[in-house]
Amino acid sequence: MSHAFVVNIAAVTFFPLWLAPVLVFVLGFNKDFGRPEYPWYKDLFNRTQSALATGMAAWVWWLVQQASLNPDLGQVVGVLAASVVYFLINVSTVTYVIHLSSGASIRKIWFENYSWLWVSYLVQAPVGLLLAKAYQTPLIGGWGGFTVLFMMLLLYFSRYYWDEKVKLEESFDETIELLVSTIDAKDPFTRLHSERVAAIAASIAQRMGFDEHDVKRITYAARIHDIGKVAIPDSILLKPGKLSEDEFTLIKSHASKGLEVLQPMRQRLSKDVQGVIMHHHERWDGAGYPGKLKGEAIPLWARIVSLADAYEAMTAGRAYSRAKTPQEALNEIIMLAGKQFDPQIVKLFEALWLEDPIWKDREEFLRRYTSPAHLSGLSSPSRSGPASATLHTSS
Ligand SMILES: [Fe+2]
Repeated sequence: MSHAFVVNIAAVTFFPLWLAPVLVFVLGFNKDFGRPEYPWYKDLFNRTQSALATGMAAWVWWLVQQASLNPDLGQVVGVLAASVVYFLINVSTVTYVIHLSSGASIRKIWFENYSWLWVSYLVQAPVGLLLAKAYQTPLIGGWGGFTVLFMMLLLYFSRYYWDEKVKLEESFDETIELLVSTIDAKDPFTRLHSERVAAIAASIAQRMGFDEHDVKRITYAARIHDIGKVAIPDSILLKPGKLSEDEFTLIKSHASKGLEVLQPMRQRLSKDVQGVIMHHHERWDGAGYPGKLKGEAIPLWARIVSLADAYEAMTAGRAYSRAKTPQEALNEIIMLAGKQFDPQIVKLFEALWLEDPIWKDREEFLRRYTSPAHLSGLSSPSRSGPASATLHTSS
């Protein structure tokens, strides 16, 4: 959401047709302007697309004013039409650039990032008109300028509130990451378990032709797939011996408990990510849990993470069972194709495994993952959250 939109629409209604886009291009400074992570070409892109959207909106506004017999009605219709045009140009240019840079389909980018945004544009549109009107009309004893200033302050504070909300969501994501790392770190056998599951799942997803955006999201899903384990007592989770039936039932509940733990952020998690958390212990033959889903009824992303999870667990070993070698684990995965795992995914996995990826050998993975070079160069995949876009609409 961008408050620059309100100011730009005010400019559309206030300045001559040609002047509004020029002012937006020259004065449209992004909050990241001057920072190294905001290079000149991003700045040029944002300025150009804002000016283009403003110019087209100004043209539509002008057309409506020319055609309208009733000036009041003309202004209301004009500002709504200008806002729609502004929104379409602004969002379509950004969507197209994200499509080019990430390979994600335009439809998907639209639905995941912008489908909800048009409401906020339409709600804000009248504010732009009011802003211009307030300046033109001396509302408080001729001090129209102060009225505008007051409105700008309101806008600023609502933006401030919005930023704080985003920060809060980010810190929630970080807390979840921390919880996942804590679960893994409790048991020496599961150290960096989620990272390796995520690396394997990402490789499979890439090989299956997932676009960059979805690879990031399945990586994130794989990272947090066992988050429900925070709700399981350590005495059971870390029990070295055989589990009783009741204890095993409790352990199994981590799949559905995961979504309860994530309840505060559930609306931000896509169905695919939720499917991984809920269904990563289903089996191809229907003997898994919690839904006893069978075959392709199991969400695809959950089938991928399930295989990655199993391979990682086999090669990690547990207090009560020795770690399998990569070859032994691969043999077992192949043996379980069509029983526990999706046979197509097993085929892909085998082909990937033969290419000797970094995740094939657990020790090698841990060594490389914790090397200083890796840590300094990689905050993701663990930080890559759902639906993150690299470019923003002008702000
Ligand atoms: Fe699990």
